[in-house]
This record gives sequence, structure tokens and C-alpha cells, in this order.
Amino acid sequence: MRFEGSPHYVATADLKLAVNAAITLQRPLLVKGEPGTGKTLLAEEVAKSLNLPLLQWHIKSTTKAQQGLYEYDAVSRLRDSQMAGLDGGERVKNIHNYIVKGVLWQAFTAEQPVALLIDEIDKADIEFPNDLLRELDRMEFWCYETRELIRARHRPLVFITSNNEKELPDAFLRRCFFHYIRFPEPDTLEHIVRVHFPKLKGDLLAAAMKTFYEVRQLPGLKKKPSTSELLDWLRLLLAEDIGATELQPEGQPMGIPPLVGALLKNEQDTTLFERLVFMQNRNR
Ligand SMILES: Nc1ncnc2c1ncn2[C@@H]1O[C@H](COP(=O)(O)OP(=O)(O)OP(=O)(O)O)[C@@H](O)[C@H]1O
Ligand SMILES: [Mg+2]
Repeated sequence: MRFEGSPHYVATADLKLAVNAAITLQRPLLVKGEPGTGKTLLAEEVAKSLNLPLLQWHIKSTTKAQQGLYEYDAVSRLRDSQMAGLDGGERVKNIHNYIVKGVLWQAFTAEQPVALLIDEIDKADIEFPNDLLRELDRMEFWCYETRELIRARHRPLVFITSNNEKELPDAFLRRCFFHYIRFPEPDTLEHIVRVHFPKLKGDLLAAAMKTFYEVRQLPGLKKKPSTSELLDWLRLLLAEDIGATELQPEGQPMGIPPLVGALLKNEQDTTLFERLVFMQNRNR
């Protein structure tokens, strides 16, 4: 099993190397990087290209590790037992009917090997990664209610993404292979744009990329625009039929690019950019 890239996802050589290292080591691949640099999409595309079904677990601040294993639905069981009368229904007697399987249980017991995405692990509380150490390492856990050991038939290919909102514990890091998706170099970014907009005109692409990097390289930005913002912006430029000449009119002072709201997402950044444009024009 090797990942060689996919037609809809531009993977740099070091990213492919990281995916294949995680496959070889049979350890989770921990992917970090700025928002919008393709962390979630990576798991989807690797799963697709390796023909593995993908199970996804999107983590929120309230998510508990146990929810990924299973939950015992005691309330339903109580209700069913009250409804069933004194003799008790068949369903109530079997506790398995009230075990709600989580993604890890499903991944461990799947007939065929699967990929598993634990998305945005840094959103959960600090105990969350620690609570999954054994499960991700030994690929097994104990179900107390049914008194059975759930063990992976095939080790799933695990992707874990993080936006770095919280530090992950060392014991957890030890069990992962780590890769940081660096913001793409211009030629890689161009390649990514081409994947999404194969018919985009060369001059518009060049003008948009130039403006995009100007905005991105502005010192002191609170939120730098990333790949997904560039793609949104290009989609809007195409929808509004804005051409390269309107984006960067020749011989005219630098202006605020149209639809800049797709790139800059807060008022401080917009003000910063407006001030820069004003100063540049004054110095001309
Ligand atoms: N290497 C790439 N190849 C193709 N498309 C990409 C690539 N990187 C990013 N994209 C585009 O950017 C969008 C955002 O990607 P994705 O949702 O995977 O980002 P993310 O890193 O998970 O962001 P977040 O941290 O906010 O969840 C994707 O829908 C895709 O269109
Ligand atoms: Mg994501």
C-alpha cells in the first residue's frame, strides 16, 4: 500500500513521504498546518486513492474519547424495559442492543481495512489525546458493559489533524508520525489552482497570484489568507467576470483588490491593507 498522489490533490514529495512513512510504521499520521492548507482533504484523498472507506470523527470542545469507542444507551434500555411490562422484552435482555458503536469500534471491526480521520484533535480538552493512547497504539479496548475486548481486525490507517490550538502530550506524540504542511510555494500553489480551475486564463492567474502574495506577505496580518481563501477568491472573480486588467490596471495606482473580503477576514487586516495601499500611492 503506497500513496502516490491523486488527481484532485496536489501532494508535495515530502507529504507523500510522510503518508507512506505512517503506512509503513502503522502509526497515526499527525498533520498540522495553517487552516485551509488541505489537512482534512488529505485524509479524504489518500483514502480514495488507496480504495479504503474513510470513517470521520470531527472533534468539538465537548467531544469525549469514550464517544469514539462506544456509548451505553441506558435511558433507552430503561424506557424499553418499562414499556415491555413485567416479563421484559427480548430486546431489553440483550445489552448489545443498547451499545452505540463509535467510529473506533466501527473501524476496528470493519470487514476490510479502513482509513480513520480524527479531525481537529486540538479542539477537545487536554485529556482527550491521553485517553486514546492505548486505543491508537494497541488498537484495542475493553467494553465493560458487554465484557468483551474489541480488537482491530486490520489496523486502520489513521489521520489526525490539528490547528495547534492546544499542545499535544508527549506520550501521544511519540505514537504518531508527524508532518507539518507548510504553506505551498508559488509553483505548488499554482498547481493547486490549476487542479480546481483547469480553464483559468494565464494572465488572470498570474495577476491574482501576485495580489494574493502581496496581501499574504503584509507584515502584521492577524489572519493570513491561505489556499482555500485564494480558491474562493478566484471563484468569485470568475463569477463576477473580473479580468486580469481590472485586478491590476496598468500604469494606475495600486488599489484595493475587488472582493477582498474573500482574502482578509477581519477589520484590522483590512485597515492595515488600505493604509499600505494609501502609503504606496502617496510615494509614487
Ligand atoms: N494540496 C491541495 N490540493 C488541492 N486542493 C487543496 C490543497 N490544499 C488545499 N486545497 C483546497 O483547500 C480547501 C481547504 O482544505 P481543507 O479543508 O483540507 O483544509 P484544512 O487544512 O483541513 O483546514 P482547517 O484547518 O481549517 O480545517 C480544500 O477544499 C481544497 O479545495
Ligand atoms: Mg480541516
